[in-house]
Amino acid sequence: MNVKHALSFDDVLLVPQYSRIKSRKEIDLSVEAKNVSKKFEIPIVSAPMDSITELAMVIAMDRLGGLGIIHRYNTIDEQAKIAQEAFYTGANNIAAAIGMTDDYYVRAEELVKAGANILCVDVAHGHHRMMQECLDRLKSKFGDEVHLMAGNVATLEAFNDLADWGADSIRVGIGGGSICSTRIQTGHGVPTLQSVIYCSRSDRDALLIADGGIKNSGDMVKALAAGADMVMCGSLLSGTDETPGDVIQSLDGRARKVYRGMASREAQKSWRDKVGSVEGIATTVDVKGPVDRVVKDLSWGIKSGLSYSGCTHLREFASRSRLIQQTAAGAKESNTHILNVV
Ligand code: IMP
Repeated sequence: MNVKHALSFDDVLLVPQYSRIKSRKEIDLSVEAKNVSKKFEIPIVSAPMDSITELAMVIAMDRLGGLGIIHRYNTIDEQAKIAQEAFYTGANNIAAAIGMTDDYYVRAEELVKAGANILCVDVAHGHHRMMQECLDRLKSKFGDEVHLMAGNVATLEAFNDLADWGADSIRVGIGGGSICSTRIQTGHGVPTLQSVIYCSRSDRDALLIADGGIKNSGDMVKALAAGADMVMCGSLLSGTDETPGDVIQSLDGRARKVYRGMASREAQKSWRDKVGSVEGIATTVDVKGPVDRVVKDLSWGIKSGLSYSGCTHLREFASRSRLIQQTAAGAKESNTHILNVV
C-alpha cells in the first residue's frame, strides 16, 4: 500500500517576504461571497455548536464583520426565534445550520422565513449521496436567495462534488476539532491543513472554510496561506461571554464554561436523548470575557501575518505566500521556550 504524507499546522511555517506595508491598518481582510447580503470584513466564522453560537454570538460576530452560525440542536421554533431576533437587531447576514435528514427541509423553510440568508448543511461526513439530494432540493427551493454552506469534507473530490451539487461555501476538515474524537473512534480523518491543501486545488468557485483544530491566529494565517477563504472556530471562541451556558465555579475556584463536541455523549443525550457513536468530548474552559476582544486579537494576528508576507489583501495572500515544512526541532523553537520554563 502506498501511504501518503499529510501535514498539520505545526508542521509548517510561512517564509517572511519583502514588504512595502507601512501600517497593518492598510491590510484588508474582507471576503466576498455569493448570495450574501453583505461581504464579510474578517474571515472568521463561529461554529454551529450548542456551546458556541446562539443569539449573542450571532450578533457579536455580525458586528465584528464575521459570521456566527446558529446551531441546529434545538427545536425548529427555538432556532427560528433566534434567527428572527437577529433579523430585528438588524444583523447583515443570518446563518443557521440544518441537517440532511428528518425535518431538515421544514427547518430550512422556517429559518428562511425568519430571516436567515445563509443555510449551513452541517454533517460530520458531508461527501454523501444524501447531501446531493439535500443540496438539490435547497437550491431548487431557494435559488440565489440563500447562500448554501455545506460540509464537512476532507478531499478534493468531495469538495468538487459539493460545489457541483450547489454549495456556495464548503467546510473543510474532518477529525481535527479540539473536542473531536472521530479519529480515535473511527481511524478516519485528514489533518485540517492537509485537507485545505487538497481542496485548494479545486477550480470550482465555492469558498473554502478551514474547520477544526485552529489553535491561534498563526494557524489561521497558515490555513489562509494554504488556500482557505475563511476559518471556522470553536475552541478559540469558547468561554467568551457570548457563548451559551452558565459560568461554573471549578473546585480550584476558577470561573469556567462548558465547551463540548456535538457528538459527545453529553451533547447527544441532551439534544436527542440517546447516545450513538461517541465522537467528541465535553469539557470546561476558563472564561475569556467579551468575544469582541478575542476576535480583534485574532484579526490583528492575521493582519500581522499578511504583512510578513507583504500582502495587503487576502485574495493575493495564497498565491504569494510560501509554506515550508519544519522539523520537530523547528516546531520546538517555534513555541516560546525561554529556559524551558514549564
Ligand atoms: P475547534 O475549533 O478545534 O474547537 O473545532 C470546532 C469544529 O469541530 C466544529 O466546527 C466542527 O466541525 C467540529 N466538531 C464539533 N463537534 C464535534 C464532535 O463532537 N466531534 C467531532 N467534531 C466536532
